[in-house]
Amino acid sequence: MEFEKVIRERFSVRKFKNDKIQDELINKILEAGNLAPTAKNNQPQKIYVVKSKEGLEKIDKASPCRYNAPVCLIVASDKNIAWSKDNYSTYEMDACIVATHMMLEATNVGVDNIWIEMFDKNILKQAFNLDENIEPICLIPLGYKTDDCKPSHLHNTRKNLSEIVEYK
Ligand SMILES: Cc1cc2nc3c(=O)[nH]c(=O)nc-3n(C[C@H](O)[C@H](O)[C@H](O)COP(=O)(O)O)c2cc1C
Repeated sequence: MEFEKVIRERFSVRKFKNDKIQDELINKILEAGNLAPTAKNNQPQKIYVVKSKEGLEKIDKASPCRYNAPVCLIVASDKNIAWSKDNYSTYEMDACIVATHMMLEATNVGVDNIWIEMFDKNILKQAFNLDENIEPICLIPLGYKTDDCKPSHLHNTRKNLSEIVEYK
């Protein structure tokens, strides 16, 4: 898909079919994340691909926002690996760029998706046995939208560029 089309056609999907995703497509999405820039190229990201029944049940205990997706990525970041200076670390920023790459590649290969922030970090960390230094940043449910799934009203509510851009 043309990049222009990808960014214009992407929208948050909140109603997924049960249909599985081919592993080949999941790999493409993961590879796109791997090409993302990170501070000092430290690549602190950790991606957990959850698709087993038990794994998805654990996701559902931590978040109400899987929306029946057959695959859910946990995008996490290793605080011990991310670039840091004084009290500042790019662990979250790095993981967000990786997540964005994956989200757009998912759209590019026809896999619907959504970025989820609403989850309980402690429940998730415990359920998936994540080390102390591994910080979950977001979830990305992946799958195929139902036929009646439409963009939410928020999708088309965009500020005018003049409200958010200033030339100095
Ligand atoms: C950082 C971030 C956190 C989000 N968290 C949630 C969430 O927890 N649950 C949800 O349903 N949507 C979530 N969304 C989706 C946004 O609501 C959505 O992107 C926004 O309303 C614009 O709609 P669009 O993605 O269809 O263009 C999140 C998006 C971002 C970028």
